[in-house]
Amino acid sequence: MIAVSTTSSGKISGETLLCFIRAGEGGLEAPGCPPAVDKCLRQAGESGDFKARKGQVYVAYAPEPRRIVLVGLGPDEPVGEDWRLAGGSAAAALLKTGAVKVTALLPPFVAEPAVAAAALSEGLLLGCYRFTKYQGGPDPEEPAPALAALEVSGPRGIGPAVRRAVVVARAVAGARDMANEPGNGWTPEEFARRARELAAEHGLRLKVLDLKAMRRLGMGGLVGVNQGSAQPPRLVILEYRAAAQKAPTLLLVGKGLTFDSGGISLKPGSGMEEMKYDMCGGAAVLAAMEVVGQEKPRGVNVVAMVPATENLPGPAALKPGDIIKQYGGKTVEVINTDAEGRLIMADALAYGVEKFRPDLVVDLATLTGAVIIALGHHRAGLLGNDDQWCDRVLAAGARAGEPSWRLPLGPEYRKQLKSRVADLKNVDKRDAGTILAAAFLQEFVGDTPWVHLDIAGTAWNFTEKSYVPKGPSGFGVRTLVELIRSF
Ligand code: BES
Ligand code: MN
Ligand code: ZN
Repeated sequence: MIAVSTTSSGKISGETLLCFIRAGEGGLEAPGCPPAVDKCLRQAGESGDFKARKGQVYVAYAPEPRRIVLVGLGPDEPVGEDWRLAGGSAAAALLKTGAVKVTALLPPFVAEPAVAAAALSEGLLLGCYRFTKYQGGPDPEEPAPALAALEVSGPRGIGPAVRRAVVVARAVAGARDMANEPGNGWTPEEFARRARELAAEHGLRLKVLDLKAMRRLGMGGLVGVNQGSAQPPRLVILEYRAAAQKAPTLLLVGKGLTFDSGGISLKPGSGMEEMKYDMCGGAAVLAAMEVVGQEKPRGVNVVAMVPATENLPGPAALKPGDIIKQYGGKTVEVINTDAEGRLIMADALAYGVEKFRPDLVVDLATLTGAVIIALGHHRAGLLGNDDQWCDRVLAAGARAGEPSWRLPLGPEYRKQLKSRVADLKNVDKRDAGTILAAAFLQEFVGDTPWVHLDIAGTAWNFTEKSYVPKGPSGFGVRTLVELIRSF
């Protein structure tokens, strides 16, 4: 874990100095940097190797500090996301050096230093993320020793913002860790175990429903999807109660499908290993609770639910044509066992809405391949039944560097889910697949304000960004944290 600190003394304690350079009209300048940087900048500029283009990085060596890393900002005044991207670019360069203790100098021209320092720290930490648990020796491309300490140097008062950024970045790393675990390393019980840890560390209330409880409550979606699996299902419910009386309640629900083979409607073999990521919604929700547990917001109660199971074929598995009964009594004709996410989410949503009477529900799910057809890997699909809350979640995501795009709902789509033999069917023909899945979920939230994020395209292979390495992105954690902080 990289230790992060801040300073306003102007002293540089790291052996490596990070400087951020704007591409100005009259040549490159490094205001506020030590003289060694000016020299290095002159050389870099004269050689033509460094033009301070956005994301450009130049590493030089000097007597003191030993290593100088110049990071280009481009010509414009950088704002929020620009600082995350600059941090990510710096991280990539740092990992290729032997830097251990790094001082990042926030330039004096920054208008909002606390905001910039926080985004920069986020970008640096998220960009340094690696998952090496199952690998033997050190990575030959990244020389040991690893980065151990990061000091952010800037004006007085940046400390709290940087500390909050560190909390978020560590939570995102935690979500990525859960997702990077293989299907045999992260089972439904692992969600329960992690929730137990969070509950103990931060004094949250925890309830874990097992198969018996699900049967008793009539959660036919979770029970049905789980039928082909040897791993018992879990419904994890983690509750944070705010100090303030009459605080509104936010319910978070995250899809925790720890491996999705498709079930009897089996997926093609090629790429199926990626379906270990089908739990990224659940991971995002638990990671957001890690932040909630640490920050203990005064103005909002937060309840997190993760329905968790595998979806596998087997002699007891759900079959196409089977009819199940969801929590609350609605029956569903299961046309395709690979549209399992909506079945487990429906039980959790219906149960959560009834039990916690939330003022807002936000759910995150790697729900449909169709959202990748619609939006690619650059934005999540956002759907909901309440314009104001949809806008607030869109805005939170935009601030966090996790953009979403709203898609419509409506009775014409709902009609496509009519079944001849049950209340609903779980799929229709392929058209508007993301909307149909959301329309299915909508049946289970009633009139409660609800926002759904389909993160199938962004939970991994998320749009190319310097601070998002290959593999799971942790998408959604920062949107949720931004939203919660806005209450
Ligand atoms: N987990 C998948 C959705 C998915 C697909 C996520 C690709 C990430 C990448 C989901 O359970 C699923 O299989 N959905 C089906 C629905 C279809 C059968 C209506 C899909 O998208 O193909
Ligand atoms: Mn599926
Ligand atoms: Zn799935």
